[in-house]
Amino acid sequence: MIAIDFEFQQWQWQYQISTTFFICVILPTLYYLYSKYITKSPNNYNKLESPLKVTIPIPEEARPHWKGKRLYPPSIKLDEEPDKIQSYCPATGQYLGTSNVTTREEMDEKIELAKHAQINWASSDFSIRRKLLKTMSRYILENQENLARIACRDSGKTKLDASMGEIMVTLEKVNWIINNGERILKPNQRVGPSNFLLKFLKSAEVRYEPLGVVSAIISWNYPFHNLMGPIIASLFTGNAIVVKCSEQVVWSSKWFIKMVKECLKTCGLDENLVQLVYCFPNDADYFTSHCGLNHITFIGSKPVAHAVVASASKQLTPCVVELGGKDSVIVLDDVKDMNALNSVILRGTFQSAGQNCIGIERVICLPKSYEKLCDIFTKRIKDFRLGSDIDQLDEIDMGAMISDNRFSQLEDLINDAVSKGANLVSGGKQFQHPNYPQGHYFEPTLLTDVDSSMRIFHEEVFGPILTLIKARDIDEAVSLSNSTEYGLGNSVFGSNFTIINDIANRLHSGNVAINDFATFYVAQLPFGGVKKSGYGKFGGEEGLTSLCNCKSIIMDKPYLRFFGVQTSIPPPIDYPIEDDKKAWNFVRCLNIAGYDPRIWAKIKAIKTLAKSGN
Ligand SMILES: *[C@@H]1O[C@H](CO)[C@@H](O)[C@H](O)[C@H]1NC(C)=O
Ligand SMILES: *[C@@H]1O[C@H](CO)[C@@H](O)[C@H](O)[C@H]1NC(C)=O
Ligand SMILES: *[C@@H]1O[C@H](CO)[C@@H](O)[C@H](O)[C@H]1NC(C)=O
Repeated sequence: MIAIDFEFQQWQWQYQISTTFFICVILPTLYYLYSKYITKSPNNYNKLESPLKVTIPIPEEARPHWKGKRLYPPSIKLDEEPDKIQSYCPATGQYLGTSNVTTREEMDEKIELAKHAQINWASSDFSIRRKLLKTMSRYILENQENLARIACRDSGKTKLDASMGEIMVTLEKVNWIINNGERILKPNQRVGPSNFLLKFLKSAEVRYEPLGVVSAIISWNYPFHNLMGPIIASLFTGNAIVVKCSEQVVWSSKWFIKMVKECLKTCGLDENLVQLVYCFPNDADYFTSHCGLNHITFIGSKPVAHAVVASASKQLTPCVVELGGKDSVIVLDDVKDMNALNSVILRGTFQSAGQNCIGIERVICLPKSYEKLCDIFTKRIKDFRLGSDIDQLDEIDMGAMISDNRFSQLEDLINDAVSKGANLVSGGKQFQHPNYPQGHYFEPTLLTDVDSSMRIFHEEVFGPILTLIKARDIDEAVSLSNSTEYGLGNSVFGSNFTIINDIANRLHSGNVAINDFATFYVAQLPFGGVKKSGYGKFGGEEGLTSLCNCKSIIMDKPYLRFFGVQTSIPPPIDYPIEDDKKAWNFVRCLNIAGYDPRIWAKIKAIKTLAKSGN
């Protein structure tokens, strides 16, 4: 009996694997071949644009088995030298190097160099821009592990976190722009005026011109992707870019910029198109209010955003502001596969030790799913293994946090919740790793019975804490989800599409994934939040066009030009006005002819116009 049961299970398992394999691998492959060879997508191979090979030696610190000296205690600031930034690995406390902060004079110089380089770049062909992006894409693909190791070394995350959150999303973005960028940025014919008399004469279009020197001020949580995303979009739109990286990840940012410069040089382009600056907050205002910057993309926290936007307003520099969130996952009671779903929630919460702009901050469940998830999470989260997976041989589930400066804040949030009735199932405090006592680890934490009276319900955690919240019904779930000051991304899971689709419409949020988590980011949709999560969009079509001056062009229709006709002011309304009444009547009839829906009124007005027009 046991043997039969076992065989049956094995058969079932194999069957499941092959269905998954069919849906995830075979079907997409068939679709790819279909779109490539049958419908001839624009991704055609073009010899002129074929990517070049770039070789750069990987830094010693990112090699396997690197032994660096440990700092006691590790800190990015040096008391004796306030104009230096010290870099170290947050997972091990190992020293990575010291950099001079960028001085104000150096900022001026770098912005000037970028401005100069951009003059030629502004009118470069899309084919050379694609060649550059393809060269980068090739480099990234061929060096996935090295790039991941560099990102891990500087941020303390695991290699798997880096491969998904840094490498894959960057490859997606670069390839999406290679395939779609030119279509989005070429002059765009518009319908023109609704008045048919004007429409007949005028053709209208929008031309996308680069803004000049743009800037990206980026957070440390994805040192590779957060840096590469704006660089890829800015270069493809014909801009030069000055990136201000976080003080926390100077070591890796310097190396990634070197890589981009190497790609530019290999393609015969000006490496000054890309610049890097880093400084402590006291000099940040000088940068953000610099008159040489034509646009700022800010990715970071709300308090810093206030300072950036205020400072940028001195030059009226336009900003796109992408801040954090208090993203929720709403789980209805009819979810069929709780096993698949709980894994999605765990990844969404604990990837990069919870330091994600679109990480899951709240899991809002209807009563039945609440009980089920409570059981599953209680079993799974306590088994998470912490460490530095680029240094040790055994498997690691979660890496370190970037710094130890928020541990007490996280502990306060947890204590506040527990004092108001939450149940701390596992974790809850800083973790002293036996092998890496200088590493910044926090225990993976599960809090259940969380409700809206607790600070942790409203304040962004940005750490490895899963909070479970019970809702009576769908209305309460939606209202709980909507009730924070943020509105970045949300997910909703259930079996009845009509119902979950309706919930998606009721969420006050910049992005929603239906029966999925965060894939809106990968899909190159416009990305950005509402409420205190920021404004403006990067990513997708809007992300490219927002880095452009959308120049509106109006001109006579080509056939008028062909006949040598030029539109001009009709005599009745030209200076000096000969007859006031006639002039008034002329424009009145023009309005009737253009906008009156009744055909006879139109015809009568046109008759009057024809009579008075000469
Ligand atoms: C850093 O600044 C010091 C002077 O304060 C200078 O001597 C040194 O060369 C600088 N280092 C680098 C890498 O620029
Ligand atoms: C959010 O949810 C509440 C409660 O269901 C609802 O009244 C509100 O309209 C929703 N949308 C927004 C934009 O707040
Ligand atoms: C889904 O929900 C809608 C609205 O409540 C209902 O009318 C419909 O019958 C449901 N569909 C299924 C398949 O249960």
